[in-house]
Amino acid sequence: MSLADKLAAPQIKDLVPYHSARRIGGVGNNYLNANESPYGAYDMPKEESWERYPDFLPSDLAAKYGLYAGTPENFVLTTRGADEGIDLLIRAFCEPKKDSIVVCPPTYAMYDFIAEAHQVGVEVASLTPLEFQVDIGRFKGITGKPKLVFLCHPNNPTGNLLRKSDVKALTDHYANEALVVIDEAYIEFTPDDSFVHDIASTPNLVILRTLSKAFSLAAVRIGFVLANPDVIELLSKLIAPYPIPDPCARIALNALSELGVAFMGAQRDRILFTRKAVEKKLIELACVEKVYPSVTNFLLVHFKDSKKTFDYLASHGIILRDQAHSPGLENHLRITIGDDTDMEQLLECLACMDA
Ligand SMILES: Cc1ncc(COP(=O)(O)O)c(C=O)c1O
Repeated sequence: MSLADKLAAPQIKDLVPYHSARRIGGVGNNYLNANESPYGAYDMPKEESWERYPDFLPSDLAAKYGLYAGTPENFVLTTRGADEGIDLLIRAFCEPKKDSIVVCPPTYAMYDFIAEAHQVGVEVASLTPLEFQVDIGRFKGITGKPKLVFLCHPNNPTGNLLRKSDVKALTDHYANEALVVIDEAYIEFTPDDSFVHDIASTPNLVILRTLSKAFSLAAVRIGFVLANPDVIELLSKLIAPYPIPDPCARIALNALSELGVAFMGAQRDRILFTRKAVEKKLIELACVEKVYPSVTNFLLVHFKDSKKTFDYLASHGIILRDQAHSPGLENHLRITIGDDTDMEQLLECLACMDA
């Protein structure tokens, strides 16, 4: 029995997927099997025809992303953003009111939000204070048998990488027992630190990716689950029919072309350059206590008074992300790195508040 079958929630294991017209397939020249319109939509460019359903899943996009990420096509599932990947994993592996996941705060809040929405338990193994590393000791205190462990690498909102040896310790600890899901939404900012090359040799390792961050395509809603084929097959049983809109698949294919990836790399470098300059200037401000080291396109900043800073900036039209509600992050705000003008406006405003 595959690991995915062993861990699958019972209500999913024997689920027969919905047989959409494209999933059933069939080759012909007169397709009358999906109740589509034979005519084009209003005001469409002549070369576009969107009246037909897209592929069940865009296999050309999975293949292209696999080439980009360094993994075979059957290790890739295209999803509507990484968020859909989180939702699919929780629904596929967790039985409501019985199973649980582990989260390591401070981290991305969607893991426990989605778990709670599906009545799945949430166990907490907080990261270590200040360094925000996995605390292996905390996992020993987890008494239940979690099905999924969510890690974020680099972590949002702290901006740091997790130690590889700790992640390895967790995949070993949970081998045959749970999947370790590594959310690599920000990995383009530090591509050599991906765990992607460990997937084939680690059956319980799953990676989440997105085009929403370094690829600048947040509105297009394209993400990927990278995992061994047994996990991918289980998730694709559950995914909605025709999840990926055809125009979005085409935009994504273009972004993943050789030129598209080079373009992303240049923009990424520009963001990293801006981040370094902003970091230096922030540290000099009287309102700032600490700027945490970051490998991403955002900075976690400890302010003397985060509420005053947040409100002052908001009253000048600058909106940061308040982190003060997270345990251990009192008076912390997260700043996304924008373009030069955005950053100048932010720094000027903070300097005025200081004055
Ligand atoms: C760590 C992390 N994972 C996933 C997401 C969501 O990505 P997507 O836009 O692909 O759903 C975000 C968005 O902020 C994120 O920070």
